[in-house]
Amino acid sequence: MRQKIVAGNWKMNNTIEEGQKLTSEIVDLVKNEVTDDVSIIIAPSFIHLSTTIGLLEGVSNIALSSQNCSENESGAFTGEVSVNMLNSIGVEYVIIGHSERREYNHETNEQLTKKVDTVLKHGLTPIFCCGETLATREGGNHFEYVCNQLTESLFHLSEDDFKKVVIAYEPIWAIGTGVTASSDQAQEMHAALRSHLATKYGKEIADNTSILYGGSCKPDNAKELFACADVDGGLIGGASLKSRDFVDIAKSF
Ligand code: PGA
Repeated sequence: MRQKIVAGNWKMNNTIEEGQKLTSEIVDLVKNEVTDDVSIIIAPSFIHLSTTIGLLEGVSNIALSSQNCSENESGAFTGEVSVNMLNSIGVEYVIIGHSERREYNHETNEQLTKKVDTVLKHGLTPIFCCGETLATREGGNHFEYVCNQLTESLFHLSEDDFKKVVIAYEPIWAIGTGVTASSDQAQEMHAALRSHLATKYGKEIADNTSILYGGSCKPDNAKELFACADVDGGLIGGASLKSRDFVDIAKSF
């Protein structure tokens, strides 16, 4: 059985005080309202990680993620944060290759390969993001484009390593725009990605891989999206900044 996951990507939002308040609210709501079969992940920016982990003590179904990491182990990389550092404070997941980092920080499929390797080497779980622009979709190449992102950054992995990866399909035209992919569009891409994974890793591993949807996912559309056979949860941006909305999404399975 693949894991149901709802992950909140705070992006570059919240002061420490605001972050602590939001985390505490999420913890209280999750404890009272969310069943244990749903894994909740909070992905704040780096400065929040060590204070957030303290607030998650004793809460079994909420884990912490960073939004990025360096592909390098340590050394002269000013401004970077290593996976070893993340590991040392209890971070369990790392978002890799979010479309904003691909665009603004020019992260390439090749660089993302190295990040995925470093994350896995230290025993953390990559949440690997993929997704197409509107122009690519309108050109009709979206399936090929997104499958190729997986091929180039993940298909070097052994079966054992690949089994640890979570995938997030986030059509770029739906991120932060208020335009969600319809449940048909999400299901058709998720199914295509799962069959693509099966060509490399076999049906059993593909069937056990969690593939999350991201892009304007909100409490009022999460139920329909999560009801799709190949959608295993969501990577939530804007709506993860409001505890009530985020937890309502987590209750939408
Ligand atoms: P959004 O962002 O929910 O605000 O569209 C999703 C994401 O970028 O992870």
